Amino acid sequence: MSLWMSSAAVPQFPPLNDDVTVDVCVVGAGIAGLTTAYFLSLEGKSVAVLDDGPIGWGETGRTTAHWVNALDDRYYELERIHGTVGARLAAESHTAAIELAHSIIKKENIDCDFHYLDGFLFAGKGEDPAELDKECEAARRAGLTDVKIVDHAPGLPWTGRALMFPKQAQLHPLRYLSHMSMVMARRGVQIYCYTHANKITATEVHTDRGPVIHCKQVVVCTNSPVNDRVAIHTKQHPYRTYVIGMRVPKNELPLILLWDTLDPYHYVRLQPDPLSRAHDILIVGGEDHRTGEESEPEYHFTKLEDWTRERFPQVQERAHAWSGQVLEPIDGLGFIGRNPGDQDVFIITGDSGNGMTHGTLGAKLVTDLIMGRENPWATLYNPSRFRLRSTTEYVRENLIVGKHYAEWLHPTDTSSPDGIKPGTGAVIRRGTKLIAAYRDESGRLHECSAVCTHLGGIVHWNNLESSWDCPCHGSRFDATGQVINGPALKNLEPVDETDRPPLKRDQGDRPAKELS
Ligand code: FES
Repeated sequence: MSLWMSSAAVPQFPPLNDDVTVDVCVVGAGIAGLTTAYFLSLEGKSVAVLDDGPIGWGETGRTTAHWVNALDDRYYELERIHGTVGARLAAESHTAAIELAHSIIKKENIDCDFHYLDGFLFAGKGEDPAELDKECEAARRAGLTDVKIVDHAPGLPWTGRALMFPKQAQLHPLRYLSHMSMVMARRGVQIYCYTHANKITATEVHTDRGPVIHCKQVVVCTNSPVNDRVAIHTKQHPYRTYVIGMRVPKNELPLILLWDTLDPYHYVRLQPDPLSRAHDILIVGGEDHRTGEESEPEYHFTKLEDWTRERFPQVQERAHAWSGQVLEPIDGLGFIGRNPGDQDVFIITGDSGNGMTHGTLGAKLVTDLIMGRENPWATLYNPSRFRLRSTTEYVRENLIVGKHYAEWLHPTDTSSPDGIKPGTGAVIRRGTKLIAAYRDESGRLHECSAVCTHLGGIVHWNNLESSWDCPCHGSRFDATGQVINGPALKNLEPVDETDRPPLKRDQGDRPAKELS
């Protein structure tokens, strides 16, 4: 549970129980999906939103909600890949996203701790501060003419020289979405939760509960697009990121956004403590790594806490800790617009660590496309694009995917389920098959195929989230194999009874049917 999940009264919407017909079906009720539905409803479109959990309970509920036009892939890099005009459009669109959110908050009178504030980029330990000058010049060329170098971030001399980006923003993402969803529901937008979309076409969205949503257009906002099998997933790659919330006496630290130049980098903000008027929560994130490539994820919280205590001696106890998933596009910008090969299916994906602004500008862009209007950002974010200058990144990331496919031939975590401790899981080999075996706290063993239902990668056990994570394109499944993150649409396959070893009475192992 993130700080946001534990401090927002998220409205509950019912599951889909009957077929419905609307103009547009939006799949995914996070920042991108709900903002798209909001804009489309203002245009007079009838809209249905579908999600397999509560609203905002995917990656939007796990963000740190930095609203920045200071893109973490750096303007000098965006300029190299997308050209001067592309970098300018990137700056313009992310700036517009901050303004769009502010205008929604004002118009709908949303109480979500929104603040404009300055952001500061500083050189991480051992990093060359000259990068700040290089980025300052590139950001100015991209149109952010008010960025400037300062001696240090306010009240934090240890940062040394820092690059200041004025008028960034922060808010409480789930209070923002909760209020927005209520406004939309009153306006007639139909929101259905706890309903999994298992087949998506331009005119029909089928669900695991049976009913179908009939529509003229579909917008897929499921973080990783579940309608796309291959094209997009070779151009963006999944990373886990970690966040802690440290209690700190109120007004001891400046209200700013802060991040460093390391890779992976640290990112910092402040939020009023929902449980205490006398405290703020210092939110610190970072420690990113490729999904499925870490056997001891809890260790990253300790490293984040050490980093924080060294720089912010005012902090007290750790009050929150959570992790999330970031999709890193190979060229630094989201994939937003028509799904490759489709006229009436749209996607918003590739948050690149800037999910709040990408989701919001994506909602505006897709709304314009659906309304038949020109949008100046459409070419830059076109999901079908391939920039030649991102080829090195494309090859590097897909070599990693190839390495993970080779795991079919590797030794497994353990040779037998006997050694799997309660509350943990491991991949075991049985004949030619790879099994994802999880032993629950009561000692019962749950087994399913370890083969990802997207494109056949081998899932890895994530001890922190108690999930099976696929390192190839980021699909995630709960401990018993139910899909929780795309691009996979289906659960891990059950184990064939003939693949099972004889039951062991003393361990309480029982066949899958009996367990369910
Ligand atoms: Fe693509 Fe698993 S997410 S193979």
